[in-house]
Amino acid sequence: MLTKAPRGTRDILPDEVEQWQFFEEKVRALCRLFGYAEIRTPVFEHTELFLRGVGEVTDIVAKEMYTFTDRGDRSLTLRPEGTAPVARAYLEHKLYGEAQPLKVYYIEPMFRYDRPQAGRYRQFHQFGVEVFGAMEPSLDAEVMMLSLHLFRALGLGEFSLQLNSVGCPLCRAAYRACLQEELKEKVNSFCPDCTGRFHKNPLRILDCKHEVCQELTVGVSLMIDNLCGDCAEHFAAVREAMDALGESYVVNPRLVRGLDYYTKTAFEIVSPVLGAQSSLCGGGRYDHLLAAIGGPDVPGIGFGIGVERVLLARAAAGCSPPVSKSIDVFVATAGNVSAAEALRVVMDLRAEGVAADKDFLGRSLKAQFKFADKKQAKYLVILGDEEIKRGQVMLRDMQTGSQTDVALAELTSMVAKLVKGAKK
Ligand code: HAM
Repeated sequence: MLTKAPRGTRDILPDEVEQWQFFEEKVRALCRLFGYAEIRTPVFEHTELFLRGVGEVTDIVAKEMYTFTDRGDRSLTLRPEGTAPVARAYLEHKLYGEAQPLKVYYIEPMFRYDRPQAGRYRQFHQFGVEVFGAMEPSLDAEVMMLSLHLFRALGLGEFSLQLNSVGCPLCRAAYRACLQEELKEKVNSFCPDCTGRFHKNPLRILDCKHEVCQELTVGVSLMIDNLCGDCAEHFAAVREAMDALGESYVVNPRLVRGLDYYTKTAFEIVSPVLGAQSSLCGGGRYDHLLAAIGGPDVPGIGFGIGVERVLLARAAAGCSPPVSKSIDVFVATAGNVSAAEALRVVMDLRAEGVAADKDFLGRSLKAQFKFADKKQAKYLVILGDEEIKRGQVMLRDMQTGSQTDVALAELTSMVAKLVKGAKK
């Protein structure tokens, strides 16, 4: 047990980490382009925040939270999602007093006690964005565009944007009653989850994955046909903005997100290459979340993207791995040259911005060559007694195999020039 990570968690090993860094670099570049600043919130929050923010009848709150009592007898919960914590920070620091809308993003671990399977973990990571303080439908389009641009920048070609409106508390309450009326005869035929949902959250029955539930709900009234004037207008304007940008999407009237805070726009981006856990991104508006957690009624919108799922989708779609960030130079030693002398040369190279490394295991020259090869070093320097005496070292281009003698005093500046030239 001591040598196994807890079920549903994963180590991100050095071999894999380049994929993560590649993802994060694309995210940071795009967020800068779109005007989103980074925010970091604590890994745990007061449990009450999620009860009130996400909703007590949601699967996340009812079944999936990692909740514990600390030594001061407080109930705390490991963050299962990022929206409620960011909303809490927005209130706590009175960010509504700053220029609005406030646009932020995060890349952080989330925790949900769910049944682990491919693409579903107990600790996973989300890249999310949240925007507060604007109702404009063009903002809904901007938020969706950011996620679509990210998927394209990552080389994912095949995905589908599913769009819906889940209405506002007013029109949803009326629709909910009407849906319950239409489904009341069938309540005992649904799957056990949906039988429970009938009273608490009947809209969720519409996006249940069980075939029986899907069959039993064929032809029922849909939220999208029962929106109030304001919600219908908003939805039409969001669609118009996406159309004007030439973006395609599928209106999916059965899309109901699994968190209670959504109002009006709800969307998901699904990948055909992922099997059961096909949702890469989920998001929408939450115009009353801030009020629900005790703040002013400030509107908001955002999304969360599962990083692990995106990386799985990249692999499944055969996207080429990011260019490996190998070292620039490996300094090999021969004869009686001391490790300290080699380290001095390595440190001089690093001071010039050259990624350099050396042997730390007293390997033979041949074994050092092999190691340099494995590390994909671009250049190899051989530092031997003879070389030091002559003040000349051998520099080998590992790709072409060509070798040149370089004055030891000029090694650093010469390699720095070569490496920087190659990076241009
Ligand atoms: P969510 O749909 O619960 O929304 O999660 C968003 C994304 O996180 C999913 O589409 C999926 O890619 C990933 N994800 C969720 N659960 C897991 C899991 N157990 N393992 C791996 N990946 C997972 C939210 O969390 C909202 N806070 C999104 C949001 C932000 N809405 C507005 N702003």
